[in-house]
Amino acid sequence: MDLFEAIRTTRAMRRLDPGRPVSDADVRTILEAALKGPTGGNQQPIRWLVIRDQDTKDGLQEIYQRCWNRGRKPYAAEPGRIAPAVLNSADHLAANLHRSPVLILACADTGPQGRRHDASVYPSVQNLMLAARALGLGTTLTTAHLFEEEAVKELLGIPSHVTTYALIPVGHPLGKWGEPKRRPLDEVTYLDRWGRTGADGTDGTDGSGPV
Ligand SMILES: Cc1cc2nc3c(=O)[nH]c(=O)nc-3n(C[C@H](O)[C@H](O)[C@H](O)COP(=O)(O)O)c2cc1C
Repeated sequence: MDLFEAIRTTRAMRRLDPGRPVSDADVRTILEAALKGPTGGNQQPIRWLVIRDQDTKDGLQEIYQRCWNRGRKPYAAEPGRIAPAVLNSADHLAANLHRSPVLILACADTGPQGRRHDASVYPSVQNLMLAARALGLGTTLTTAHLFEEEAVKELLGIPSHVTTYALIPVGHPLGKWGEPKRRPLDEVTYLDRWGRTGADGTDGTDGSGPV
């Protein structure tokens, strides 16, 4: 698959086929792609936890469901903040997390100083999601479990010097691939100076945009 097509069509795929396994070879391929992501000073603090065991997935789902019940509240309380379809699909994922063929938890070793490594983790997570897309596998970057990170760490035997960043369900999607909705580039890009949206330094109404 062409790289730009993979980028264009990678989106949150929360409805996964529970009956269609994901091969170890595919899991290895997407993790190898993730490994190529950059990390600050090439320190490579990331550790990946691949979860296939059903009891463990069941335990994670219980925690995730509680977390999502909290996480969804602000969205549900403010109509229009999130598309109902997105809320529905996030609800579906929470209820079915344990049916995902594979769950991948992106972690990082915080070292003795307890440093966070968010910016060194997320490029690799995106690599993983793009590689999964190229193999026809759906993923969703989720962070709701962080509401109860300690419970997740206890369940998975994660030591205290390791932090978790994203829980990514992986499976063959039940839904269709499609382009995610995003704001137009020219609405979110400025030239030379904050707020300057047009190539001529005006408001971009000539249609040329900043880039
Ligand atoms: C930092 C971050 C945290 C997210 N956490 C969750 C989550 O906990 N649960 C969930 O269902 N989706 C989660 N998502 C997925 C987003 O809701 C999703 O990327 C967004 O709605 C855009 O979806 P689209 O790419 O299909 O358009 C998260 C995404 C990001 C980038």
